[in-house]
Parts: sequence; structure tokens; C-alpha cells
Amino acid sequence: MTTPLLSLTWTDHITGRQGFLVVDRLVRGVSSGGLRMRPGCTLDEVAGLARGMSMKEALHYNPESRYVPLGGAKGGIDCDPRDPEAYGLLVRYLQTMRPYIESFWTTGEDLGLAQDVVDRAAAEAGLVSSIQAVYPLLDDEAGARRRLADAFAVQVDGIGLDELVGGCGVAESVLMALDRAGVPYWRTRVAVQGLGTMGGATARFLTRAGLTVVAVADIKGTIANPAGLDIEALLAARDAYGTVDRAALRPGDRELPGDAWLAAEAEVLVPAAVSYTIDATNQERITARWIAEAANMPVRAEAEELLAARGVTVLPDVVVNSATNAWWWWTLFGDIGADADEAFTHTRRSMRALTDRTLARAETEGTTPRAAAHALAADRLLMIAERFGQHR
Ligand SMILES: NC(=O)c1ccc[n+]([C@@H]2O[C@H](COP(=O)([O-])OP(=O)(O)OC[C@H]3O[C@@H](n4cnc5c(N)ncnc54)[C@H](O)[C@@H]3O)[C@@H](O)[C@H]2O)c1
Repeated sequence: MTTPLLSLTWTDHITGRQGFLVVDRLVRGVSSGGLRMRPGCTLDEVAGLARGMSMKEALHYNPESRYVPLGGAKGGIDCDPRDPEAYGLLVRYLQTMRPYIESFWTTGEDLGLAQDVVDRAAAEAGLVSSIQAVYPLLDDEAGARRRLADAFAVQVDGIGLDELVGGCGVAESVLMALDRAGVPYWRTRVAVQGLGTMGGATARFLTRAGLTVVAVADIKGTIANPAGLDIEALLAARDAYGTVDRAALRPGDRELPGDAWLAAEAEVLVPAAVSYTIDATNQERITARWIAEAANMPVRAEAEELLAARGVTVLPDVVVNSATNAWWWWTLFGDIGADADEAFTHTRRSMRALTDRTLARAETEGTTPRAAAHALAADRLLMIAERFGQHR
């Protein structure tokens, strides 16, 4: 494990709250990684996420693409996004980080922060854009920015394309795992923790592929129905933080405690909310065969070992949830246009290939898919360094 290039803790002079920035590495002088806001966020967590970003970037390296992966980074702010102080804190954080964002850190939405909030706060902090550091790498900056703005304006059945591509990628990883195991979609049940950007879109794509979502959890608790939930109705009943209005529940739906999703009778679990949600103790309650990490770091290492020993496969975050980040760059660098069908087709193809390669390597080498993904990322980082030189 390498030491990050930059790691800093900021204390807000007004509220005394803390924010963090970790830049794991630079490629061609630039790094990429979202900004999260949650109470209890720590520097360690942000460092782990930044390392994960380096891998997510590298895993999508394709010598034929216009997009060349960037280095990995992450920002974090220790605050509840619903706190009245949250927005001012975000603006002051971005003001302080401005020199880094202007020169080498591209950022965007992550847990607790929607892209429009990040954009508004970035403008208030005097930034051109939260991804301006990448502009010098573009051939046609104006065209590229227009294409990305147009892509952000695309909506599909009431949800923005930017909020759908990530879940499209998660769903495709799950479908690939089922295909490799010869398990039919229609017989596959799914439980999801978190019905925000990632969980919501994953639930939509898996339902549309023929799977049955039997449980979803949000911050208020679990909603379950063994016969299947009406996902579109639940999606339409969410507030801006991904909390479902319980008035939308149908007669067969039941309200259960927050951790009930974990033990739902389902073949696939999709943790899509917070980090460290599955630990050595609660993993015992899991009966699913696959866990697809839509969230970052939801499964603790000790839990993963115990799960692997009893045949539960964890599809790792660096693979499974990597599509949102890649989609930004595919669009900006011009591998795809501002079009939903093109975005979904490209996402599906890339995620299918990446998941297949990861699972095949794990099988051949007798490792977990996570170890296989890390090995793949290391290989690609070498290829990138050979082509562009080692930037630190
Ligand atoms: N948004 C992205 O593009 C993106 C991309 C890659 C990875 N991720 C990761 O996915 C995860 C979710 O991100 P998001 O953007 O979808 O977040 P979000 O803020 O849009 O939604 C979070 C959801 O989780 C629920 N939730 C929060 N705490 C919970 C708890 N303790 N128990 C149950 N439910 C809880 C919320 O009610 C909400 O439904 C994070 O780990 C994030 O880092 C996000």
C-alpha cells in the first residue's frame, strides 16, 4: 500500500467541524474523486476511498479510448447533509480547497451531496467548475464541456442520466455474475440498502432485467415484500436525500427494522448506502449468494473472509460501482455522446467485460474477486505509467 501524495485535514473556523482531502496519486497531473458529507466521516475513510478511486480509474483503462484514466482522490466533510450549517460549510470547504481543485483535483457528488449542490457551492466558492483541472487535457474544451452539460440534462423516466449510469453498472455486474453461474434472472431476488442515487438506479435496472427486489432499506428502516416491491412507485416517492415517503407503500409491503434487508431471503444483496455496514457479526445473518458493493467499502475485511469461507461472493466496489466516474470521462473526452442509449450500451459493455475478467481471474488464481480486481488494477497502472510516465 503506497502513501498518498497528499492528505490533509481542514477545520472550519466558524463551526469547528472538519473536512478532509486525500489525493492518492496523479496521472498526467490530475486526479479524480467525489466529495462526501456524512456525520462521522474520517481521514482514514477518505484515504481508503481515494485509494479505491485510483483503482477504479485504472480498471477502465483501454488503450483505444480517448479517455485515459486519472489518478485517485477523495474529499470528505464530517457533517450531516441535512444540518442547517451544511451548505455554508461546504462552500467554505471548497473555498479552502480551491487551489487544489483548480490545479489537480476533479470532484463531484458522492454520499450525502447531489451534483447540483456541489455545482452551486463550487460557483459560490469562485470555481469555474468542480472538474476544471482536467480541462487542459481536452482537445476541444468548449465542445467537451457542452457535451457533458448536455448529458447531465438527459432524463430517463424521471431520473437524471448522471444518477442512472452508476446503478446501470452495478446491475450489469450482478447480471454478469448470474450469467457465469447459469442462474436465471427471473428466479433471482434482491435486497438493497439505500435507495438514493446508486441503490435507486440499481433497483430500477435489476427490476427491468427481470429480477425481483424483495427489500429496500433507507435511513428510516426496511421496506419488504417477498412477492416483490413496486420499485418505480418507491423511486417516485423519494425526497432529495433518498428517503421514501411511507404513504407510497402497497398493502403487501411491510415495514421492518433498519438492518432487516441484510437477512432478507434473497440471492443478491446490494449495499448501496454507507461504508462498513457488513461486519464479522452481522454477516452470519446473510443467506444471499452474492453481495454487490454499490456503496464504497460496505463489507469489512473480516466479514469478507468469513463470507468467502461459506461460499458468498463479494463483487468488489472498485469494479461494481465504477461506472459513474467512468461515464463522466467517457462523455467529457468524447468516447460517447450526450445520449442515454449510448451511455447505457457503453456502460453495459464495459462493466460486463470488467466483471467477467475479474471473476475469471479470481477463479484461475483461487483468490477473492477483490484481490483479482486489485491485481488487474496494478497491471493497468503499470501500463499507464509506461505510456505516460509515473506522475506522483
Ligand atoms: N453517487 C455516485 O455516483 C456514487 C458512485 C460510486 C459509489 N457511490 C457510493 O454509493 C454509496 C451511496 O451513495 P449515493 O450517492 O447513492 O448516496 P445518496 O445520498 O444518494 O443515498 C443514500 C441512501 O442511503 C440511505 N441511507 C443512509 N444511511 C443509511 C443507513 N444507515 N441505513 C440504511 N440506509 C441508509 C439513504 O436514506 C439513501 O436512501 C456511497 O457509499 C457512495 O460512496 C456513489
